[in-house]
Amino acid sequence: MKIDSITENFGAVVTDVALNDLSDEDFHGIEQAWFTYGVLVFPRQHLTNEDHFAFSRRFGRLEKGLPHINMKMRPSIGNTDNEGNVLPPKHVGRVFNIGNSLWHSDSSYKRVGAKASLLAAHEVPSEGGETEWADMRAGYDALSSDVKNYLSDKIAVHSYAFSHSWHYGLQVMPEEGLRQLPPVKHPLVKIHPDSKRHVLFVGRHASHIIGEDFTSSRKLLRELTFEAAQPPRTFGHQWDVGDIVMWDNRCVLHRARASPPDQPRKMVRSTVAGDVPDNEWAVIEAA
Ligand code: SIN
Repeated sequence: MKIDSITENFGAVVTDVALNDLSDEDFHGIEQAWFTYGVLVFPRQHLTNEDHFAFSRRFGRLEKGLPHINMKMRPSIGNTDNEGNVLPPKHVGRVFNIGNSLWHSDSSYKRVGAKASLLAAHEVPSEGGETEWADMRAGYDALSSDVKNYLSDKIAVHSYAFSHSWHYGLQVMPEEGLRQLPPVKHPLVKIHPDSKRHVLFVGRHASHIIGEDFTSSRKLLRELTFEAAQPPRTFGHQWDVGDIVMWDNRCVLHRARASPPDQPRKMVRSTVAGDVPDNEWAVIEAA
């Protein structure tokens, strides 16, 4: 197995390994590299969905889907239906994806956010459609000591109703679903459980800061996200069919870039739930 870093400490490409036939030793090497680099790109693995989910499962329990979003209608994070036909622009399955074009950490609107996301490309457009990641460990390191001090005890409210329930006048998540997704609190600065590095935990689901003026704290959160997600702390991946990328939502933000609307972009994503024992969003498996 070969691991080549993309930037010095952020992102790596892993080759000479088959994820559908992975030894424990290689799995351990991948896990350690993931802690170091935050994002791992595995080119042209061509995994079946079964193998994709089995590999994901090695990192922890998977996360339950969102309530009241019909996953049959939207099996993948892309712009196609089950048969690979491009959905019309106003289809809820497509409109839902608009939110993914803004920097975010998956499921940060849940009490326990997602640990890992694993995204595989099944059909790709001729141009565009890249995914980009931003290193929020480096984003924290780049803050001035005054800002670090100010943020050290601040708690942000993350809210699906705020960030993702409506897009262009279409309510993607109905009220009964939103009732199961109440706003949650996350510290603005977290310590990563494995690397022990400080992380600036922001992104589009962060609505405002508790105890601060609502409007100005919302503006500050936007500015913090914007400033942190700048080169040299970012990189993008231009997908080839068969690629799979995994990232650590506890220290990385990501976003999808636009692609020609008439061309299929079919991506399949699995999400590993945050690994606390009482995570209500983790799938409970039969013993
Ligand atoms: C996501 O936001 O999880 C998906 C990103 C993408 O489609 O590139």
